[in-house]
Amino acid sequence: MPDFTEQTLTDEVLEKLEATGDPRLRRIMQGLTRHLHDFVREERLTEEEWFTAVRFLTETGKKCDEARQEFILLSDTLGVSMLVDAINHPKPEGATETTVMGPFYRGGASERALGENIAHDTPGDPTFVSGRVVDAKGEPIAGAVVDVWQAAPNGLYEGQDPEMPAFNMRGKFRADAAGRYHFRTVKPASYPIPMDGPVGDLMRAVKRQPYRPAHIHAIVSAQGYATLTTHFFVRDDPFIDADPVFAAKSSLIVDFVRHDDLAEAVARKTTAPFYTVDFDFGLTPR
Ligand code: BEZ
Ligand code: FE
Repeated sequence: MPDFTEQTLTDEVLEKLEATGDPRLRRIMQGLTRHLHDFVREERLTEEEWFTAVRFLTETGKKCDEARQEFILLSDTLGVSMLVDAINHPKPEGATETTVMGPFYRGGASERALGENIAHDTPGDPTFVSGRVVDAKGEPIAGAVVDVWQAAPNGLYEGQDPEMPAFNMRGKFRADAAGRYHFRTVKPASYPIPMDGPVGDLMRAVKRQPYRPAHIHAIVSAQGYATLTTHFFVRDDPFIDADPVFAAKSSLIVDFVRHDDLAEAVARKTTAPFYTVDFDFGLTPR
């Protein structure tokens, strides 16, 4: 019976993992063991602290169901989701940068005609979004599908707000022959990440603010191109430099241009003030 010391215990676990058949799994499990043991040693964790961590992870698991993924929220707020994203999606010249998908995407939004309003009767500042889907050389990608979703000005996504009609603030648009897409909506607002679970408790304990800067999400797909998951942000949002999930990259921050001219509003069949925003999506070959 060997008597393990702080260091030989780590070596023993690493040795036990040597038999793992899958070499990638072996490498990941040994790396995790090494870093976790180093962390426990360096921080001199007390038993009470370790059980607090176990309790926290247990509560995180209990908070997960079909509609809520507290572990992804934990990964997002620890910056791990964006770290994995950064490693796996280096940005080639001309390509739009990626970000986390977030928990509020809902597949199955129906395709809408270009120009349609995704905001139904939701009150807010009228906003006209337009742009192009292009390849690395700036050539249009006709027929690309731009699948968008956003929170309403009350900060809630369809699915969180029982008052909202199904698929409100969501829509799929197919780019025309020039790669152009456009749709109408209302200006998004900043909103807090879900704070009623263990991740919220942790955010409060470490005194972090929960508001995400206002944004519109998009998944852009086209035959022969890698599917792009991203969002674009409102430049003058008060939380633009404080995104709790670290997704607000500078290349994704855009001007929502305010228009106060009444004649211009009438020409667009809307009211003043209204906003316009232009955002191009650059795709890379698959
Ligand atoms: C979102 O943008 O919808 C989101 C992303 C990560 C965590 C929480 C919300
Ligand atoms: Fe969002």
